Amino acid sequence: MFGRVKPLDAILATAEKKSLHRSLGAFQLTMLGIGAVIGTGIFVLTAEAAQKAGPGMMLSFVIAGFVCAVAALCYAEMAAMVTVSGSAYTYSYAVMGELIAWMVGWALILEYAVAAGAVSVGWSGYVVGLVENAFHIDIPDMLVRGPYDGGVINLPAMLIASLVTGLLVIGTKESATVNAVLVAIKVSALTLFVILSVPVMNMKNFEPFMPLGFSGVGAAAASIFFAYVGFDAVSTAAEETKNPQRNMPIGLIGSLAICTVFYLLVAAGVIGSVGAQPVMDAHGIGLEPGSRELAAQCASIGDQAVVCSKEALAWTLREIGWPQIGNLIGLAAGLALPSVILMMMFGQTRIFFVMSRDGLLPAAFSKIHPKFNTPHVITILTGVFVALFSAFFPVGLLANISNSGTLFAFAAVSVAVLILRRTEPSRHRPFRTPAIMVTAPLSFLGCLYLFYKLDVKSQMLFVVWAAVGLLVYFAYSRSRSHVGRGTVEVHEEDADAPPQPVPPLP
Ligand code: ALA
Repeated sequence: MFGRVKPLDAILATAEKKSLHRSLGAFQLTMLGIGAVIGTGIFVLTAEAAQKAGPGMMLSFVIAGFVCAVAALCYAEMAAMVTVSGSAYTYSYAVMGELIAWMVGWALILEYAVAAGAVSVGWSGYVVGLVENAFHIDIPDMLVRGPYDGGVINLPAMLIASLVTGLLVIGTKESATVNAVLVAIKVSALTLFVILSVPVMNMKNFEPFMPLGFSGVGAAAASIFFAYVGFDAVSTAAEETKNPQRNMPIGLIGSLAICTVFYLLVAAGVIGSVGAQPVMDAHGIGLEPGSRELAAQCASIGDQAVVCSKEALAWTLREIGWPQIGNLIGLAAGLALPSVILMMMFGQTRIFFVMSRDGLLPAAFSKIHPKFNTPHVITILTGVFVALFSAFFPVGLLANISNSGTLFAFAAVSVAVLILRRTEPSRHRPFRTPAIMVTAPLSFLGCLYLFYKLDVKSQMLFVVWAAVGLLVYFAYSRSRSHVGRGTVEVHEEDADAPPQPVPPLP
């Protein structure tokens, strides 16, 4: 069952042929990380974290950041060694065999596609708020919120998901320059927020610090974990990095550290300036974010709490007397978040490529558009699902579901990196995880803890998704696997190229 391993050397032969120019330094890597990481998490989910933990969400940001940091160090060792696309899926294939690899790939679908849906919903919240406030109009909730959130359908979220799909179909990739500009916009927006909100902090707003106990802090950490997701973008650039042993950990830990500092300052600004106590029901129980009950309770208080806002940072600034700057923050989010959606959807199509190239998914999935030279079929299919998720589900639920998949993949990588140290101790490792006997188990246990703290709905969805994955594997993929059939392909030209239809076996 676990014997179907794709030999690491065959995977690496692919990568060696590719040999990209090593041009990225620590600074560029850090920018890449920040570009992929800052998004809906801090701009939107801050409100959800506050609803779960109150001011204690400060601790939640630290816990989630710590788990990501140790996972990132494990990721970096694999990424620097196995420099082909497919990330956690590819590493698992080489180390733990096809079944685990399939499950990781299947979980990565949750990570990427569902996350793209979550960021689309986050984008919608900010853009709707901006339009309403800047032009003094009232857009009916019915059209801009999903059914769990007091509406019917989230049309703007669908729109942005479709637009990004269109961009991917015509072959848009984000250049380093565009990334740098967007990073500058996001960082300026957050800096402005901190400058305006921190000086008006009232320390009384930090009490009670943990209104729902440490359990609430853990639950908020499991949600806010989403705010850190995306740093894998750094590890996948290992092959293009100068001196990866030095620059990779700087890039990974550097971008995570910078984001953590920003997140803590922003959280402190929100809590200190407008307060962040959860909205409770009549029995003093915190209502679940993204639930109809919370939407109703919020409506009854005229949405006068940050936990009710779909655009927490802009709302806070308007509350403390900076309506125009609030709109500016909305504009910054409106401009910058689509690039996070783009990266997530791009990541998704990459995973599908590789799985399809390995024979585990139909080759038809990866049909290439004759003119644009992009895998339009799978891109459009992904886009349709992302648009549907974002139209009907609340951002917090989507983020939590995405987290469940990501945590599974991170846990698998933490195990894989340990196993490989055992089985192939002398293999060349451009980057070695420091104190691996501590780091890898901490990462594994951290992922387990955060998964355990997710809401039951997301956990159940993950289990159902995994069960469907197993069914698909045994009913379809197992018998079609190229490794299973004894063909291990080495792709001469370009390891990242979309898979071509495989000629029939003799
Ligand atoms: N970390 C990314 C975000 O918060 C996914 O939007």
